[in-house]
Amino acid sequence: MSRVQGKTALITGAAMGMGEAHAKLLAKEGASVIVTDIADDQGKAVADAIKEAGSEAIFCKHDVSDEAAWIEVIDKGVSTYGKIDILVNNAGIMLQKPVHETETDEWDRLFDINVKGAFFGTKYILPAMQKAGRGSIINISSIYGLVGGPSAAAYEASKGAVRLLTKASAADYAPFNIRVNSVHPGVIKTPMTDGILADEEVSRQFLSAVLMGRAADPIEVAYAVLFLASDEASYMTGSELVVDGGYTTT
Ligand SMILES: NC(=O)c1ccc[n+]([C@@H]2O[C@H](COP(=O)([O-])OP(=O)(O)OC[C@H]3O[C@@H](n4cnc5c(N)ncnc54)[C@H](O)[C@@H]3O)[C@@H](O)[C@H]2O)c1
Repeated sequence: MSRVQGKTALITGAAMGMGEAHAKLLAKEGASVIVTDIADDQGKAVADAIKEAGSEAIFCKHDVSDEAAWIEVIDKGVSTYGKIDILVNNAGIMLQKPVHETETDEWDRLFDINVKGAFFGTKYILPAMQKAGRGSIINISSIYGLVGGPSAAAYEASKGAVRLLTKASAADYAPFNIRVNSVHPGVIKTPMTDGILADEEVSRQFLSAVLMGRAADPIEVAYAVLFLASDEASYMTGSELVVDGGYTTT
């Protein structure tokens, strides 16, 4: 119950799906949690549930593509908890289209959230982590930051960018005792994949590539995030933790 005791974690996109699971698990393991999301009712409900379970949390409405909002949210986190040790750049959106069907504004919006969001997060969290004397930044990429697949060109390009942003940041911030790693989930049961998994044919196609033959629950990824957030991963930086039931193995 204390793998991240005494630490403060900021998790983006934490109102539902995997972000909610990361926030609840980090809180259960002792962290004070800053739950952020554009979905304020659901985000507040996550923070309330954490507090009802006896842990510490606040909710901040926060669009990760908004640079000024990052500065406000981090200020609020630091003024509430004194420091921030853990950042999970989790918020992301998906677009199921090949290049020739992708509109420029769709490409830009997706990159603003999936890539620029992680860039802003890394940039503005650094002073708070330097103050803490340590830090763990966890960027949620995807199996599609490692391999390609049909009809998700902008998404896959964004997740590839997140993978290398992670390694560049790991190189730059290791001297400050700040570790930066990426997590690469496979097919996970969240609102993002509801539509895909509800369609029997599409679901069968996706799951046929998973060695374990099933989609995962968000908690199965949250444990990887918890590990990277904790001091158990003290010698890990620039690494990519794949949680995909074997999807990218063969
Ligand atoms: N579900 C999967 O199978 C899967 C697989 C690999 C990677 N991922 C990645 O994991 C992360 C979480 O995915 P999920 O499946 O839980 O997604 P989800 O759609 O279920 O939840 C995403 C959350 O992000 C929030 N969000 C969206 N745009 C935002 C913005 N501009 N600013 C702040 N918050 C915003 C949403 O409100 C929502 O709460 C994403 O980065 C996603 O790309 C998901």
